[in-house]
Amino acid sequence: MSSLSFCLVLLLNLVALALGADKYSRDDFPPEFVFGSGTSAYQVEGAASQDGRTPSIWDTFAHAGKMAGANGDIACDQYHRYKEDVQLMVDIGLEAYRFSISWSRLIPNGRGPVNPKGLQYYNNLINELISNGIQPHITLHHSDFPQALEDEYGGWVSRKIVKDFTAYADLCFRKFGDRVSHWTTLNEANVFVLGGYDGGYLPPQHCSSPFGFNCTKGNSTTEPYLATHHILLAHASAARLYKEKYQYKQKGFIGINLYTIGAIPLTNTTKDAIATQRANDFLIGWYMDPLVYGEYPHVMKKNVGSRLPSFTDFESNLVKGSFDFLGVNYYATVQVKDNSEKLEMEVRNFDADMAIEFAATQDDPSEFEFSITPWNLQGLLEYFKQVYGNPPIYIHENGQRTPRNSSLEDWHRVKYMKGYIGGLLDALRNGSNVRGYFEWSFLDLLELLDGYQSSFGLYYIDLDDPDIRRQPKLSAHWYSHFLKRKGFNSYGFIELEKNLSALSYT
Ligand SMILES: *[C@@H]1O[C@H](CO)[C@@H](O)[C@H](O)[C@H]1NC(C)=O
Ligand SMILES: *[C@@H]1O[C@H](CO)[C@@H](O)[C@H](O)[C@H]1NC(C)=O
Ligand SMILES: *[C@@H]1O[C@H](CO)[C@@H](O)[C@H](O)[C@H]1NC(C)=O
Ligand SMILES: *[C@@H]1O[C@H](CO)[C@@H](O)[C@H](O)[C@H]1NC(C)=O
Ligand SMILES: *[C@@H]1O[C@H](CO)[C@@H](O)[C@H](O)[C@H]1NC(C)=O
Ligand SMILES: *[C@@H]1O[C@H](CO)[C@@H](O)[C@H](O)[C@H]1NC(C)=O
Repeated sequence: MSSLSFCLVLLLNLVALALGADKYSRDDFPPEFVFGSGTSAYQVEGAASQDGRTPSIWDTFAHAGKMAGANGDIACDQYHRYKEDVQLMVDIGLEAYRFSISWSRLIPNGRGPVNPKGLQYYNNLINELISNGIQPHITLHHSDFPQALEDEYGGWVSRKIVKDFTAYADLCFRKFGDRVSHWTTLNEANVFVLGGYDGGYLPPQHCSSPFGFNCTKGNSTTEPYLATHHILLAHASAARLYKEKYQYKQKGFIGINLYTIGAIPLTNTTKDAIATQRANDFLIGWYMDPLVYGEYPHVMKKNVGSRLPSFTDFESNLVKGSFDFLGVNYYATVQVKDNSEKLEMEVRNFDADMAIEFAATQDDPSEFEFSITPWNLQGLLEYFKQVYGNPPIYIHENGQRTPRNSSLEDWHRVKYMKGYIGGLLDALRNGSNVRGYFEWSFLDLLELLDGYQSSFGLYYIDLDDPDIRRQPKLSAHWYSHFLKRKGFNSYGFIELEKNLSALSYT
């Protein structure tokens, strides 16, 4: 890009920011609304085989070369640098930090003896956060299921998982719950299952022919439904335990997290409108209908038939209402096109049962970054409001992807955050029950799909730097000003953006 057009783009960006109808400040949100940023254990901790930790299915996946040679052996080394990282959170003014516990660091065999060094690490991290006034929001399972249990009984496809997951959760509530107010059982439960048991492109890489990518085990027609069934039961069992044994004294909350796509129909045809509803039922309703109504969506029962497990009355009552809040990850919108012909396929998987096609998600497919369409996030929140009774929602992940090496002046990320936080405010003002926002991600980390090729971080990390130094990007400055200048008006906000731009480009 020539320097002239570079300047032009910057100017345009600045104009877009200055003219945005979304002028707001931290004070426009309720004081109890929480702003943070997030990571997960395998993506940042490193120390993968230190102090008693054993591999998870994600370690196995990475070491089989499935992440373009990248792995989390060292990652951001947060295991050794958590104090430094908490200071960086203080610098930004983060009110909360969302992270996950590595199950196989805490309980190396998946069940049984507890690793004292694992306990100590999470106690240290939690205490460091609390003493700096930052709320810990903890996820128990973020794609890093213990390999030992995967080997022993196939992990989530076996019903045995319910007992082991509940015991793991019990340990976490007992040891950390006096200081933790927000627990999430699983991250992106729906995508974990689709990538891991249908397409096989994510750990634990189960799939079957003709679906997926050369898996050595699995069954794409049945396992996705089975794994989800067990996830719902495990989640509900842990949630019931928390509510009965801990909540009255620890006063915290428990929820589950889903990946969302903000589906919109490709055309105005009735077919595509119905297909969009079907996409929502299969991707969101698959979990939300049982969680809110105690059963799977009607269209899933119809299309999947006997491959869809059913709940006994006892299970249905266990699952129904088993959450205090819902975690929502939202990055981009997907257009939906009907493809009912798939229902005629002889061998069916989740995709065929859903019977749709996805179309482009980006305004410009040549763009690496996600397009910024806050009204689609508002539409999604409206959907939860109208269909599922407006449950409390935390936006657990939302963030802009940039190439790993791109500039510290990450205007794309600033624009993205500004747009979506503004959209959230609009949704809040229109009665949505949204309670918090966590930018993904705090640091440039090991991405599940891209390894180290792309980055979402507020802090840049140069992988070649032996000190793994963290450098704040413009987005970190922008977020910090937003969070700290609580009283400043919209004029000051624009002025700040001008100042930042002057700072960065002269
Ligand atoms: C699957 O395996 C075949 C044969 O080894 C190979 O040619 C093909 O590229 C593999 N496909 C994927 C998606 O890895
Ligand atoms: C998957 O499971 C179903 C039901 O048990 C069975 O009919 C089918 O043959 C299995 N498919 C594969 C690829 O193993
Ligand atoms: C859909 O309908 C709206 C309003 O009726 C119209 O503005 C829009 O162009 C239509 N879109 C397509 C893809 O036909
Ligand atoms: C605001 O909320 C009302 C009631 O739920 C809904 O009908 C309307 O579509 C919402 N507006 C937007 C912009 O989402
Ligand atoms: C990052 O930049 C360096 C030097 O400019 C280059 O050698 C490397 O391939 C880039 N890495 C990525 C992931 O783009
Ligand atoms: C912008 O810069 C001017 C001049 O340095 C300063 O007076 C003003 O406080 C800055 N505004 C913000 C919002 O930082």
